[in-house]
Amino acid sequence: MLRLRPFTPCHWCLGMPSTAMVTRILFVCLGNICRSPMAEGVFRRVAEKEGLSDRFEIDSAGLGDWHIGQPPDHRAQRAARSRGIDISGQQARLVEPEDFERFDLLLVMDRSNYADLKAMAPAHGRAKIGLLLDYAPHVRTKDVPDPFFGGTEGFNQALDLIEAAARGLLASLVTQETPPAKHGP
Ligand code: 4NP
Repeated sequence: MLRLRPFTPCHWCLGMPSTAMVTRILFVCLGNICRSPMAEGVFRRVAEKEGLSDRFEIDSAGLGDWHIGQPPDHRAQRAARSRGIDISGQQARLVEPEDFERFDLLLVMDRSNYADLKAMAPAHGRAKIGLLLDYAPHVRTKDVPDPFFGGTEGFNQALDLIEAAARGLLASLVTQETPPAKHGP
């Protein structure tokens, strides 16, 4: 259940949509044990640092069912922990049909995830689907590379990309700028 404190608008919050006040974001990758759990943890931290935790409901999910119920990959946990972020309490789950109604924004880690999620999406689902790295326009790639089959360094590189995009995402949401145009393959 989401608990909200009494709301005193600050200059950040004044830019937020006045009706809901809570933006629901689901980060999506393939296995939900590497990139999207790190994205969930990073965005949670970025929002926390700005005192905006209560304005977001954040979750992550995967497109493949290999790791359902498992905690994030130990390499993802370690890389996140080295940046002060604890993701050990997360549990992998699949994207569900309800997610397209419940969330405002489904943000995928790469273009392959994007195509898969689009193929699952109902014709008139509420959630917008986008690429996380659209929120990091200075970054040259649109894909957070999948670190699962590589070494530790891939997890740190993925985190660098995710952190850059998480800051851009928060800035975009609090200033109510139009989100990046929908990506089309
Ligand atoms: P993720 O990485 O999509 O970033 O969670 C993967 C994790 C597991 C697998 C693939 C990608 N897998 O094939 O099991």
